Amino acid sequence: MAIEHTLSILKPDATRRNLTGKINALFEAAGLRIVAQKRIQLSEAEAGAFYAVHKERPFYGSLVSSMLSAPVVVQVLAGENAVAKHREVMGATDPKKAEPHTVRAQFAESIEANSVHGSDSPENAATEIAFFFAGTEILP
Ligand code: CMP
Repeated sequence: MAIEHTLSILKPDATRRNLTGKINALFEAAGLRIVAQKRIQLSEAEAGAFYAVHKERPFYGSLVSSMLSAPVVVQVLAGENAVAKHREVMGATDPKKAEPHTVRAQFAESIEANSVHGSDSPENAATEIAFFFAGTEILP
C-alpha cells in the first residue's frame, strides 16, 4: 500500500500541559512517522482561515480563540493509511465518546480543547499540509 500523509495539530491544551511527547508516542507506536514538525503561535487570521469550514457553527469564535491561547505543534505524519490511522488513535471529537485508549479519551479537556486535530480525508490532508508546510520541509 502507498504511504499516505496527514496533518496533525497538537493543540494549546496539549502544549500548555507539556503533553506533546506523550501524544506523539501514541502516534509513533501506531506506525505513524513524524516527517515534518514545528511549534508555532497561530495568528487569529491563520486560525480563522484554517477552521473556515466551521465558520457558521456556534463554537467557531470560541474554537479560534482557544487555538490562539498557547502555541501549537503542527506536524505531518506519514504511514500506510495515515489519515484513518491517525483519526483512530485520536479518537472521537468528543472525549466522552472516544474509545478508552485513544489520545482524546486519555488527554482531552473538553470537546473543544480536545488536544489534537487530524485531517479527515486524503484530499483535505493535502490542503491542510500545504497550509503550514512547503514540500521541502517534509523529510522522510
Ligand atoms: P478538530 O478535529 O480540530 O475539528 C474542529 C474542531 O472544532 C474540533 O476538533 C473541536 O476542537 C471543535 N468542536 C467540534 N465540535 C464542537 C462543539 N460541539 N463544541 C465546541 N467545539 C467543537
